[in-house]
Amino acid sequence: MEKIYKYIEDHVTPQGEALDWVEKQTHIRTNHARMLSGKPQGELLRIIVQTTGAKRILELGTFTGYSAICLASTLPSDGHLDTLELNDELEDLILEGFERAGLDEKIQLHIGDCKETLNRFRSEMGLSEGQEADPAKMYDIVYMDANKREYCEYYDLVFDMIRPGGLILADNVLWDGKVCMDPLPQDKQTLGIARFNDMVSADPRVESVILPLRDGLNIIRKK
Ligand SMILES: C[S@@+](CC[C@H](N)C(=O)[O-])C[C@H]1O[C@@H](n2cnc3c(N)ncnc32)[C@H](O)[C@@H]1O
Repeated sequence: MEKIYKYIEDHVTPQGEALDWVEKQTHIRTNHARMLSGKPQGELLRIIVQTTGAKRILELGTFTGYSAICLASTLPSDGHLDTLELNDELEDLILEGFERAGLDEKIQLHIGDCKETLNRFRSEMGLSEGQEADPAKMYDIVYMDANKREYCEYYDLVFDMIRPGGLILADNVLWDGKVCMDPLPQDKQTLGIARFNDMVSADPRVESVILPLRDGLNIIRKK
């Protein structure tokens, strides 16, 4: 681990027992523990939710539930988080973590492909028929952390589900520095993320900044 990141990790608010449990179980039961958002980013998510007063959050890519717990832990009592995950083998672990965090009432897990679930949400909100979304059902924050090849499609699918002034937080947008290599690596994930960052920075409907925290977090505010 980079020395500076370790220093940041050592100086962040302790994450609490439920997240300790999720982190440990993720190491024991999966081979992809590095996919966890981790302590500094988790704490940043908690602070963003708290300071923006967000009530409705959508997460793409639950994995073992670490970031979902961070996002939901500072929601008000009537707050809600929908989190979307493709891998149904993770379901038991995810749900146990939510219960241990005391957040099982606030978080709803939707197993299935993100794009399919988002299209279902869009039709439930009337968006696929060209109607405007009911403001009470719009999201305040979308945390994007699923398939890196599909970020542009997720952006298009979630955009009108977010209220004006709401945020999209897109993770891994530096992709290990590959997005600024010259020549650009031609793998689909690097190309997908590079296309996404270009699309966002050219979109006049938003303002955005990439934070170089961990693997890069693009903070995008819908005007
Ligand atoms: C980087 S991990 C998410 C990490 C999690 N947000 C955290 O910080 O703890 C990405 C997750 O997205 C899921 N995923 C990938 N493609 C997906 C898709 N098409 N639909 C739903 N989930 C998907 C993967 O199975 C994986 O669990």
